[in-house]
Amino acid sequence: MMKTKQFLFTVFCVFPLFAQADEGERTYKDATLPIEERVDDLLGRMTWEEKILQLNQFTLGNNDNVNNIEKEVVKVPAGIGSLIYFSENPELRNEMQRRAMEETRLGIPILFGYDVIHGFRTVYPISLAQACSWNTDLVSRACGMAAGEARRSGVEWTFSPMIDVARDGRWGRISEGYGEDPYTNAAFCVASVRGYQGDDLASDKHVAACLKHYVGYGASEAGRDYVYTEISRQTLWDTYLPPYEAGIRAGASTVMSSFNDISGVPATCNHYTLTEILKERWGMEGFVVSDWDAVEQLIPQGVAADRKQAASLAMNAGLDMDMVGHCYDRHLESLIREGAVSEEKVNEAVRRVLRLKFRLGLFEHPYTEEMPAAQRLLQPQSKDLAERLAEETIVLLKNEGQVLPLQGFQPGKNTIAVMGPLVDASGELLGNWSAHGRMEEVCPIREAMQEEFDGKATLLFHAGCPFDGEDKSGFAEALETARQADVVVLFMGEKRLWSGENCVRSTIELPAIQEDFIRQVKEVGKPLVLVLANGRPLGLHRVEPLCDAIVEMWQPGIPGGRPVSGVLSGRVNPSGKLCVTFPRTTGQIPIYYNRRQSSRPALGKYQDIPSTPLYEFGHGLSYTTYRYGEIKLSRQTVREDESLTAEIAVTNTGHLAGAETVHWFITDPYSRISRPVRELKYFEKQLIQPGETKIFRFEIHPMRDLSFVDSDGKRFLEKGTYYVQVKDKRIKLEIDE
Ligand code: NOJ
Repeated sequence: MMKTKQFLFTVFCVFPLFAQADEGERTYKDATLPIEERVDDLLGRMTWEEKILQLNQFTLGNNDNVNNIEKEVVKVPAGIGSLIYFSENPELRNEMQRRAMEETRLGIPILFGYDVIHGFRTVYPISLAQACSWNTDLVSRACGMAAGEARRSGVEWTFSPMIDVARDGRWGRISEGYGEDPYTNAAFCVASVRGYQGDDLASDKHVAACLKHYVGYGASEAGRDYVYTEISRQTLWDTYLPPYEAGIRAGASTVMSSFNDISGVPATCNHYTLTEILKERWGMEGFVVSDWDAVEQLIPQGVAADRKQAASLAMNAGLDMDMVGHCYDRHLESLIREGAVSEEKVNEAVRRVLRLKFRLGLFEHPYTEEMPAAQRLLQPQSKDLAERLAEETIVLLKNEGQVLPLQGFQPGKNTIAVMGPLVDASGELLGNWSAHGRMEEVCPIREAMQEEFDGKATLLFHAGCPFDGEDKSGFAEALETARQADVVVLFMGEKRLWSGENCVRSTIELPAIQEDFIRQVKEVGKPLVLVLANGRPLGLHRVEPLCDAIVEMWQPGIPGGRPVSGVLSGRVNPSGKLCVTFPRTTGQIPIYYNRRQSSRPALGKYQDIPSTPLYEFGHGLSYTTYRYGEIKLSRQTVREDESLTAEIAVTNTGHLAGAETVHWFITDPYSRISRPVRELKYFEKQLIQPGETKIFRFEIHPMRDLSFVDSDGKRFLEKGTYYVQVKDKRIKLEIDE
């Protein structure tokens, strides 16, 4: 058995298949032909049955039992288009691929996909945290590392990035995207697509990306998952589509349609979004896969009577591949025969799937080299990168009286009580959708704190309080521990499975037992630092006044407690800033910085709480201080086709080096379509040494940066006054004839 495998591996991996076809015949097997010719040739040879199978995706499970592996492989049709591959090693994949290559008439390789969301085996911080780093370069590199681990393990297609603008923390999937702002989502989308795909999809370092969930999934009513979304065409264009357009322009290979119904037409069968916008206007050459079972779900969504009609609606709308729904494999052939779906439509979908397989080089290299896991996973550079990225994602929300960093806290008083449910719960730090991440590979908070403060402080540990429920039996002992300490650090927050798909919460406040614990610890009278690990913005209005400092560490992946321990000790100067607004309470949702203006801005406030958020989009403190100069424009008045430069000088006025992010906003006071009060148009992060001044620049191209979009997606630029804004500084700019 082993020998045969090795032989096959040598034949298929070392000697590329079909590099040159039979002499005289130029077919799809000829790697020297242009891809479009190869696609045409192959398409011309395929039967309807073969074509339709290409448009289906089934699964191949994670099972190490050799007997089961064979059974599993045999039950999947060898001519299937794609498989979601749950295993971490390439052997099972190669077995299945061998069937596709050898047992089917045309030898079309299978495309293996998987949810490599924030890492494969090296787990990086969750995407919501990644955006708080404002470091697109690090994010791109992390995606590149994840792509390499995945590709060498048998996966060439990731269902990532998720770029759903999300403004409701109750929605569990807010953790999977880059926050509330279209531009931020677009910027990190482009970074991750470049990281995943690189310049050459056929290399063993890269995978095809999939933009998801197209589109408007983040608008789920009250944060409930899978439900109806009410999205006007205007909002679709100005809020939900921009990250997708950016991703397509960056060359993303595929798109996944979303589960939601968009104002009466589910995304799975939405001709406007799938065909008219994505394929016709944006010219996307890749294919669209449905979300899991979503074609069949057109039945409960109330637009299809049965699977056959669901298949017809989805295919006619422009949905190319059916993920595990068994609607296309069972019904497309009869739909073609009956004329309900045109041959041309199906051919076009198959063409798109084949095109990607050729681009990925799968016809030449269908098999994954079977190298030991130690050579392809968790490489030191990948782990280092995870730690660096995690450090940059941490947001210092509050630091009253400079209680942090702890090393400078109070000389001679160096006993720290380290408490809370997260102290030993390292698995919770992985975050949801953690692919093949393993709990035992996460650095626990206890261990990280011990290492960090070794020889510098005495640490007293106590969990004290569970994540939720009513068991307060640990409180008394924990409070005693707090009394013995000079400062208390509480690690509180969420379990990893409180976020992600189908993880909706009715409130974003911490569970009552955690709030109660914080309150009781506060009464002990020691300085109190709250460290939070969570997958959503939290409602902290009740606990914020009780804490001297609050640190948002998010769910950092395998670096676990190490990065935040560095922030607590002062080894790391925090530089993260929020990519999502933190409301005071759940009742303020939706609250986001780029809202439209009210008719009476001074009125209409809540009577019981301030109407402002607790922490704004872009908020994040540092251990150093910065002085911002005034914004300078290279010219105050420009024509539509001219450009100008805005500059601002930022000086580090403290004693520590710090990385500062400048967010550039624009405001258009009035327009024929009302616009958000502020719109982020650019950001930049730079390291500034103590005493040093750095210039931050924003090249403004009026049509790109000052224009708006109408409800049909047409961009327009009006003459008149605009403002360019950084923090509380703003400057006027005129667009002239
Ligand atoms: C359903 C999820 O909505 C989607 O994000 C994921 O990529 C697919 N399942 C495949 O696992």
